[in-house]
Amino acid sequence: MKAHQLREQFINFFVTKHGHKRINGASLIPENDPTVLFTTAGMHPLVPYLLGEKHPQGTRLVDVQKCVRTDDIDEVGDTRHLTFFEMMGNWSLGDYFKEDAVKMSYEFLTAPVENGGIGLDPKRLSVSCFEGDKDAPKDEEAASTWESLGFRRAKDGEPLAGGLIYFYGKKENWWGPAGQTGPCGPDTEMFYDTGKDKCSQCDAKGVSCDCGKFVEIWNDVFMQYEKQEDGNFKPLAQQNVDTGLGFERALAILNGVETPFETELFIDALKKIRELSGLKNESEFAESQRIIADHIRAATFILGDPYGIAPSNTDQGYVLRRLIRRAIRHGKKIGIKESFTAEVAKIYIEYYKNVYPELDQFAEKIVNELEKEEEKFSKTILQGEKEFEKLLPNLMRGKNPMLPGRVAFKLYDTYGFPIEMTQELAKENGISVDMEEYEKAFEKHQELSRAGAEKKFAGGLADHSEQTTKLHTATHLLHEALRKVLGTHVEQKGSNITVDRLRFDFSHPDKMTDEQIKQVEDIVNEQIKRELDVTCEEMSLEEARKHGAMGLFESKYGETVKVYKIGDFSIEVCGGPHVKNTRELGGFKIQKEQSSSSGIRRIKGIIG
Ligand code: SER
Repeated sequence: MKAHQLREQFINFFVTKHGHKRINGASLIPENDPTVLFTTAGMHPLVPYLLGEKHPQGTRLVDVQKCVRTDDIDEVGDTRHLTFFEMMGNWSLGDYFKEDAVKMSYEFLTAPVENGGIGLDPKRLSVSCFEGDKDAPKDEEAASTWESLGFRRAKDGEPLAGGLIYFYGKKENWWGPAGQTGPCGPDTEMFYDTGKDKCSQCDAKGVSCDCGKFVEIWNDVFMQYEKQEDGNFKPLAQQNVDTGLGFERALAILNGVETPFETELFIDALKKIRELSGLKNESEFAESQRIIADHIRAATFILGDPYGIAPSNTDQGYVLRRLIRRAIRHGKKIGIKESFTAEVAKIYIEYYKNVYPELDQFAEKIVNELEKEEEKFSKTILQGEKEFEKLLPNLMRGKNPMLPGRVAFKLYDTYGFPIEMTQELAKENGISVDMEEYEKAFEKHQELSRAGAEKKFAGGLADHSEQTTKLHTATHLLHEALRKVLGTHVEQKGSNITVDRLRFDFSHPDKMTDEQIKQVEDIVNEQIKRELDVTCEEMSLEEARKHGAMGLFESKYGETVKVYKIGDFSIEVCGGPHVKNTRELGGFKIQKEQSSSSGIRRIKGIIG
């Protein structure tokens, strides 16, 4: 089955057989949710409707949504994890619930293609359901529906096989919320037997074994709870269904190949990668080939999103940079000499442009940004390698040569040379790296830069009086309001506060219109009127990023940072101090909007 056929087959099944309305997939960058960086699932753009708002298209929806998930970026390279993927989904917004959802899924999976399904052999399917805990009961309803379709409950110790129902806890059979709070609930997952041999864990673990014998293809989530800030699960007034069928995996299964990388989605890009590197076949440096193919595809889609993300050191731009740089590292590893990321991206643009016309629309930007980033990173790498080579003669003298961790750290700290590259170079030369010492040097550096960051921040604040504290909180509100009105390309470029006013510099190409200024003021004033609590939490920078916090400093990986939240409105990495509640600000007004430098605007504002 071709990719476009599969998308259409899915949509048509739900539209014609079960009365769903097709909706357009949303942007990869979530619009109204500061708690995550990317759209990670099809349900994401639908959160307001899962919470009870009325959807203009009704209560039964279906779509194909592009998604990015980067929590497991280090796992990409195996055969199943993808950072970018498409998710096919159907939704019930307070319409049908468990029984119908399960039956529809089963029908689509097993009905012959000519009857609208995808014709999988039912004997190769097994499923899992939620076993129950303090927050929600065992999902008897989903399980008995599966029983009515011919499945039976797996007995204790029964060998893994098709046709069985397994029960697991929250880790396996609960989905959401996508951010820290929001709709979530128990789910039932469907697995397909790839025909591979069982591993030694399969029988003990059942379908939850992730060796690749049974692969998860579809997840029906029964969104009947809303997770609260305090960690409690509040029942939702409306019982929803949210399903996600992994497009790439399904396509692989339907084409009888083991991994998405063997499907039409990746074939040409992988060919190009081999052509550029001189590798002869798929199995040579398979992992590097897959990493490059996956990461450049994700980078192409992120750069091709209307939101205008470019590589940077914060938020989505930081993830994008990591993806591109990891691809380049592996490109080097497999012997690609020239700049290549844009070449691979062009193949994806060509392949996907009919389904995702935005890639065509932004083709030039995609290519330019990749070339720029590759050039930047190549310089870093060259310099790092040169420094490494200078060290070699001395190192090679010993019997069991080992690169001291502090030296590896210096390469990273001074030249931005990634530790992974140091390790690779060292390995090639039969040298080990003292990683323990490296970690220590890294940690010490973090402490110092934390202290530095606080100082730097204090530098931006004239004093810590009540008035400047208020202005500081107003700055966070302004920052977020600007992003809401102008777009998420708005990033803080500088802040300066005196007792009289705030001054905020940010990236934006044009002069703001009077209307935009008014909108921003209104949004800030609304948050003041809403009397939002300001709270502070400490977490690792990675966690902060995951929570979607905007970042002030170019903090380093692994650092612990303070994250300030203003109600549900703003979340930002910051040293503080802030007021306790936005009502203390009284009101907000923009006095001036002017240019600061090329591509940077400056706002002066007052409160009271
Ligand atoms: N939200 C669920 C998932 O991402 C089902 O769509 O798996």
